[in-house]
Amino acid sequence: MGHIKNLDLREIYSNEIPSTTYLTHGIHPYTAKLIPHIPRYFIEKYTEKNNVILDPFCGSGTTLLEAKLLERNAIGIDINPLAILLSEVKTTHMDVEELKHAIQLYKENLKESEGKIFVEFPNIDYWFCNKAQNDLARIKYSIETFSSKVDRRIYKFRICLAHFKQSSLTSNFLSSS
Ligand SMILES: C[S@@+](CC[C@H](N)C(=O)[O-])C[C@H]1O[C@@H](n2cnc3c(N)ncnc32)[C@H](O)[C@@H]1O
Repeated sequence: MGHIKNLDLREIYSNEIPSTTYLTHGIHPYTAKLIPHIPRYFIEKYTEKNNVILDPFCGSGTTLLEAKLLERNAIGIDINPLAILLSEVKTTHMDVEELKHAIQLYKENLKESEGKIFVEFPNIDYWFCNKAQNDLARIKYSIETFSSKVDRRIYKFRICLAHFKQSSLTSNFLSSS
């Protein structure tokens, strides 16, 4: 594959791929995530529309989403349940209005969540400060309440966003959500 050594994939796809986080690619961080340019290049080079692409270590689903965008069928496998969740959410079509409504519902649940639930497990104080414990408990309450009222696809989408915000230690999460 010596002939592809000097390709500038960011330059080649500067129109089609405006950033590495475009569409749902940026929905959540993931270790050793590919930039979408890489699977796009190989999918275009070695496959045709309607072919089936298998990514046996799909991680956050970068290849799966690029495959879908290029009208290929894709199968992803991963040992990590978070990877499966992200891949599913990343590649599932959702109606924007339906999603906005669900997010509104989630915010309402969050407002009423204070003091409703307490999460406990051994050494919790070692892993999380009091504020994080409280924030996580409120998010758990909101997600659980929310899950009974909306479609599973939206439920999963919202979990990803909540998890992302919490894991990136956004200090004003509860006030801005
Ligand atoms: C480098 S990551 C893939 C990242 C992916 N290309 C992306 O863009 O998000 C490698 C993945 O392989 C998965 N993995 C490692 N060993 C595995 C195994 N034995 N079976 C299935 N998945 C495995 C890990 O859970 C991880 O998600």
